[in-house]
Amino acid sequence: MTVTDVHYSPTSSKAELYAQLASQLASLLAGERDLIANAANFSSLIFHSLPDLNWAGFYFENDGELVLGPFQGKPACVRIRVGQGVCGAGAAKRETVIVPNVHEFPGHIACDSASNSEIVVPLMKEAHLMGVLDLDSPSVARFDQDDARGLEGLVRILLSSVSS
Ligand code: SME
Repeated sequence: MTVTDVHYSPTSSKAELYAQLASQLASLLAGERDLIANAANFSSLIFHSLPDLNWAGFYFENDGELVLGPFQGKPACVRIRVGQGVCGAGAAKRETVIVPNVHEFPGHIACDSASNSEIVVPLMKEAHLMGVLDLDSPSVARFDQDDARGLEGLVRILLSSVSS
């Protein structure tokens, strides 16, 4: 088994899956402090381990905009103003945003027509917004509070891997 093999049974709870992913992610990022490299491996691990996703990746904050970072999935819009769309809402609120049906979210930015639900987790370094993690799913209501807590934990592992 390699570091990126995640084996979970259909009976695993989401909490168990995220605990396993946290351990895999910590091993994967150990010894490397480059944000782009670690965000790239993070997005690959998540995309290939969490079921029912069509996009997983990052936007990094730059001068009031979110700029596309490492991701897995179809090509996406490059720049999103903070406050715009689901990503911009998560960035502006500085808290995780779960959207059960993106077609009912005013201002949603459609990058992949397959997306029906979305979750955005802000990357916060103390009070500073570094960017957001964005996951899209073809299923309506794919994401819940267990995903929010699990993904927030994974984001903490990423941020601590690159902090000085
Ligand atoms: N749907 C997002 C845009 C980014 S893509 O989903 C990759 C939004 O409304 O902010």
